[in-house]
Amino acid sequence: MCGIVGYIGQNEAAPVLIQGLKKLEYRGYDSAGIAVYHDGIQVVKTKGRLADLDAKVKEMGGVKGGMGIGHTRWATHGAPSDVNSHPHSSMNGRISVVHNGIIENYLQLKAELETKGYVFQSETDTEVIAQLFDYYYNGDMVDTLIQVIGRVRGSYALGILCQDKPDEMVAVRKDSPLLVGIGKQENFIASDIPALLEYTKEYYLLNDNEIVVLKKDGITILDMDKNEIKKDIYHVDWDISAAEKGGYDYFMMKEIMEQPEAIKKTISPRMVDGNIRLDDIQYTEQDIKDINRIHIIACGSAWHAGIVGKYVIEEYARIPVEVDLASEFRYRNPILHKNDVCIIISQSGETADTLAALREAKRQGIRILSIVNVVGSSIARESDDVLYTWAGPEIAVATTKGYSTQISLMYLLALKFGHVRGYVSDDKLQTLVTELQQIPAYMEKLFKNEAQWKALAKTYAFANDVFVLGRGIDYAVAMEGSLKLKEISYIHSEAYAAGELKHGTISLIEDGTLVIAIATQDALYEKLVSNVKEVKARGAKVIAIAKEGNTEIAEVADTVIYIPKIHDAFTASLNIIPMQIFSYYVAVERGCDVDMPRNLAKSVTVE
Ligand code: G6P
Repeated sequence: MCGIVGYIGQNEAAPVLIQGLKKLEYRGYDSAGIAVYHDGIQVVKTKGRLADLDAKVKEMGGVKGGMGIGHTRWATHGAPSDVNSHPHSSMNGRISVVHNGIIENYLQLKAELETKGYVFQSETDTEVIAQLFDYYYNGDMVDTLIQVIGRVRGSYALGILCQDKPDEMVAVRKDSPLLVGIGKQENFIASDIPALLEYTKEYYLLNDNEIVVLKKDGITILDMDKNEIKKDIYHVDWDISAAEKGGYDYFMMKEIMEQPEAIKKTISPRMVDGNIRLDDIQYTEQDIKDINRIHIIACGSAWHAGIVGKYVIEEYARIPVEVDLASEFRYRNPILHKNDVCIIISQSGETADTLAALREAKRQGIRILSIVNVVGSSIARESDDVLYTWAGPEIAVATTKGYSTQISLMYLLALKFGHVRGYVSDDKLQTLVTELQQIPAYMEKLFKNEAQWKALAKTYAFANDVFVLGRGIDYAVAMEGSLKLKEISYIHSEAYAAGELKHGTISLIEDGTLVIAIATQDALYEKLVSNVKEVKARGAKVIAIAKEGNTEIAEVADTVIYIPKIHDAFTASLNIIPMQIFSYYVAVERGCDVDMPRNLAKSVTVE
C-alpha cells in the first residue's frame, strides 16, 4: 500500500529510485513520482504507472542529482491524479516528502496551517506533513521531524528532503514498513527488500519512531530523545533473480510454478525422520496439551489459509478453532481465555488490520504464534513465536506461493499438535508425513495439464458469473479459487458451500452459468456429485475437480480436472493449482494486467 524509496550516494539518484520503485509497484500503482536534489529540489510526478513516470523523466532528458526520494501510490485520500501524486512539497518548495500510511488528524492540522497562511494544493493527508515540517523547520532536520511526529496521529513511513540540506535526508516509520539499505558510499531507504536487492543485501530494520539520518557516507539512527541507537545488520539471502520475472510474462505465473520448491523449503527442515519438529517455536508438550482454543486471524487469502487450518487442526488436534477476519476481530470484543492461542497469518507481515488484531490479542495477554513470509516484518517482530514460510519474495498482487506455504504450515501444526495431544498415533503420523512430502511432486505432475486449463480459460473467459462449490476443506479452497478469479480477471464469482447452494443462490443458476465444483473430499464426493446434478438440471456448465479414479463425476460434469490421489487432509494444496492457472489465463485472455489488478495493492498497510 504505497511504496517509498530514498537514495543518497555517488551515483545519479533518479535511475536508482525508478528501478527501486519498479520493485515496489506491487504496493500501489495509481501514480508515481520522484524528488531529486541538485541545486534545489526537482519534483517529477504523474498519475498512472511507473512506466509513465519513466517516460516523463526520459522526455525531460533525465533528472540530475545524487540524492532523492520516490513513491508509488495506492490512493487513499484524493483520487489518483498528478496533483495528488507524491512527493508532496511545502508551499514554498523547501520541503519534499514521500509517505506510506495515513495521517488521521490531517484535517485538523490542515485547518491550523491554513490559519497561518499555508495554502494546500492536493486532497492528500501527506501534504500536511510537508507543510508542517516547513512550519517547524529550524535548520535542524531531526529536531523538526521530532516536532512533526509529536503532532501527527496515524501510520507513516516517511522520506523527507529539505532545500537547505544538499547532503542529508531524514526518514522515520510508525506502523508502516521501512528498511534502511547499507551501501558503500551510498545508502538507501525502502518499503521492502526487493527495491534494495540490486544495490545491497545488508539492511537495518527500524522500530516505530526511530529516526534515520541518511548521508552518503553514513547512517545514524536516533530515538525520539536524539540518543543514537546501535542496530543489528540484517542480510538478505535472496538473489536478485528472486525478484525478477525470469522469462515469464507475469510474476504470478512464475510464483505459481515456484510453489513446489517453496513448499519443500517450508516443510522439509521441519520434518526429521518422519517426525515434525517445530524448533523455531517455544512450545513445550505441556503448552500444546494446555491449549484451550485457537483463534486464527488474517485477511484475504491468508484468511482462507486459516480456514483450511481450522479443518485440519480440529480434525487432527481436536482443538476448537475460530477463524476471524482481522478487521472484524479487532473491533468485536472477542472472548479470549488465558490458555487460548492466536495464530496470525500474513505473507507480508505488515497488513494493518492483522497487526492491529495481533496487538489487541496481545493486550489481552494471549500468546501469539505468527505465520509470516517476510523476515523481520512488524507482525513477526511483535509475535511471541514465529513460523516463517520460506516462499521467497512474492511480487504478484494475487498470492499463490504465499498461500500454499501457509497451508503447508497449517498441516504441520495440526499433525504436531495432534500427535502431542495423543489423537495422532505414531503410525498415522508416519503415513501422513510421507503423504505430505509428496505434495511438491504431485504439483509438478499437475503442471503438465496447464494446456488443458488454458484452453478452458479461453472457452469461459467471457463468463459473467462463476460459482465455485465445495464441501469441507474443498469449500475453503473454493473461496480462495473464487478470489483468485475475481481479483485478477474481474469476473463476478462467488464461493459456496455446496450444500448451502439450494438455500437461495441456486436461483442465480441459469442456462450457461459456469459452476466449478471441487469434489476432492472422499467422504463428501457423492454429495458433491448430487450437487453437480442439481446445477446441471438448471442449465449450468460444470467444470469439476476430482481425484484420479473418481470418474463417476465425468458423467454429470462437462469437464473434469483430475488431481493425483492424495489424503483428504492435503487436497487443498493440489486443487488450488488448476484454480490459480485457470484464473491466470482467463485474466490474460481478457487483457487484464495479471500482476497489478485494478484498485488493489499487495501489502495493505492502511485500515
Ligand atoms: C492483500 C493481498 C492478498 C493478501 C491479503 C493479506 O489483499 O492482495 O493477496 O492475502 O492482502 O495480506 P498478508 O500480507 O497479510 O498475507
